[in-house]
Formats: sequence, C-alpha cells, structure tokens
Amino acid sequence: MTPLNSFETNMRVIVLGASGGIGSAFIQLLSQNDRVKDIYALSRQGLSLNDKTVYNLTCDFTEEESLIAAAESLRETGVFDLIIVATGKLQGEGMVPEKNIRAMTYDGFSNSFMTNAIGPAMTAKYFLPLLRSDKKSVFAALSARVGSLSDNRLGGWYAYRASKAALNMIIKTLSIESGRRYKDKIIIGLHPGTVDTSLSKPFQGNVPDGKLFTPEYSAKKLLEVIEATTLEDSGNLLAWDGETIPF
Ligand SMILES: NC(=O)c1ccc[n+]([C@@H]2O[C@H](COP(=O)([O-])OP(=O)(O)OC[C@H]3O[C@@H](n4cnc5c(N)ncnc54)[C@H](OP(=O)(O)O)[C@@H]3O)[C@@H](O)[C@H]2O)c1
Repeated sequence: MTPLNSFETNMRVIVLGASGGIGSAFIQLLSQNDRVKDIYALSRQGLSLNDKTVYNLTCDFTEEESLIAAAESLRETGVFDLIIVATGKLQGEGMVPEKNIRAMTYDGFSNSFMTNAIGPAMTAKYFLPLLRSDKKSVFAALSARVGSLSDNRLGGWYAYRASKAALNMIIKTLSIESGRRYKDKIIIGLHPGTVDTSLSKPFQGNVPDGKLFTPEYSAKKLLEVIEATTLEDSGNLLAWDGETIPF
C-alpha cells in the first residue's frame, strides 16, 4: 500500500478517466488505501464499480455542461485532496499517430487537442476550486514524455505530441495562477511510462523487455510521486520514477 501521509487523513479523491487502464488502476489502489475515505470515479459512460468507497459519476469533459454538472454535484459533497485526470487519446475518430506530414488531418489535430489539452484545461477551470487550500492538495493530469520539446528525437505523432506539449504549458500556467491565489494547491503533469493499456496496444512492438509496465505498477509508482510532491514541483512534468522531465 502506497503511504499517503503527506495528505490529510480521510482523503477525498476524484479520478477522471475511471474506465481507462491507468485510471481504473488508480481507483483500485486508492480503494485499498486506509487513508482514503471517498473516491469519485468519473467516466463518460458511467461505471458501476463495486466498492463502498467508490462513487460513480458520468462526465464528458468535451462538453462544458457535463463538466459544470459534475463539478456542482462534487462540490456539494465537500472539499477534495487529490484530483487525477487520467484521460487521453492517441488514436480514433479521424486520429492516427502520424508517421509523416502526409498523414496529418484537421480531425486528428482537433480531436487530439480536444481530448488531451482542452478537456483537461476546462476540467481544471471547474474542478480546481474543489481542492482544499488549507493543506496539501494535488491536481495531477496524465501527460506524456513525448510532449517534451527537448526530448523529441524520433519525430512523428504530430497531433498527440503537440496536444501533450499544450497540456504541459497549461499545467505550467495553471501552477503560476494557482500559486498566486492559494498556498497549498500543487498542479503537476505525470508521465506514466509505457503502460499496457488499450491506448498503447498497437505500439508495443518496439518496447524493450521490462519497459512495458502493468497499469497497477505505473499507478503505484505515480502515487508515490504524488505523495512526494511539494509546491516546488508545481507546474512540472514528473515521470513515474520521480524524474522531472524537461519541457
Ligand atoms: N499507456 C501508455 O503507455 C501511456 C504513455 C504515456 C502517457 N499516457 C497517458 O496516460 C493517460 C491514460 O491513458 P491509458 O493508457 O490509461 O489509456 P486508456 O486505457 O485508453 O484510457 C483513456 C481514458 O480516457 C478517457 N477519455 C477519452 N476521451 C474522453 C472524453 N472526451 N471525456 C472523458 N474521458 C475521455 C477514456 O474514457 P472512455 O472509456 O469513455 O473512452 C478512458 O477512460 C492518457 O493521457 C495517455 O495519453 C499513456
């Protein structure tokens, strides 16, 4: 069990993307943690996770009304210690990870930006006020190392890379605004490593031995990172092993 001692006891947590590989692993681990009291599991279709600590809500963050409604029902339950945005998309609905410029499409870019950057940004707009500001609280959005400009040596994946780079900038900018207003809200991006989920399935061929993580392992490592974060980390992109990834 990952210790979460840097947070208040009776932690209250929101996980968006509860249906996803990494999102559901977070919920599983958090529901086994003695320090966690309530978990709000948000997904587009609404899940029926069977655990006394887990409450299921529907939310599609591409629709503002859906976010507003979810934020309102969450606000009525009290303040939160941790929000994890575990949503994201690499392909689907006109999106293919482009190997070259000939594969670029309007749909690919707009769907990528909507899911990977605009959705998390609008989630921050409506959900950041739900975080407690008297003690440590964390807003963590799943980003990706491929969104780092300085780390880009392979090229390709234009829309996904660009949308994650935009997310990294959004996180950095949120941390600056939040730092002015609140004392203890930490805002970070997380890189989970290469994880065996539906998102990475088609691209696992070249992953070196031992480098394809289970969702449980990745979520456990990311919870350790979240536990160790301080205000100094706010605005940064942190990897599963605690490394700060340069933008
Ligand atoms: N897996 C990896 O190797 C890897 C590597 C680097 C970064 N990441 C990042 O980690 C995050 C989680 O990925 P994963 O591997 O767990 O992928 P996944 O299993 O495909 O899960 C993605 C989640 O995003 C949700 N989602 C997509 N569009 C949404 C929308 N419009 N509104 C609300 N939810 C939406 C999906 O919900 P539905 O079920 O409703 O579609 C699903 O819960 C992503 O940000 C991804 O970019 C993953």
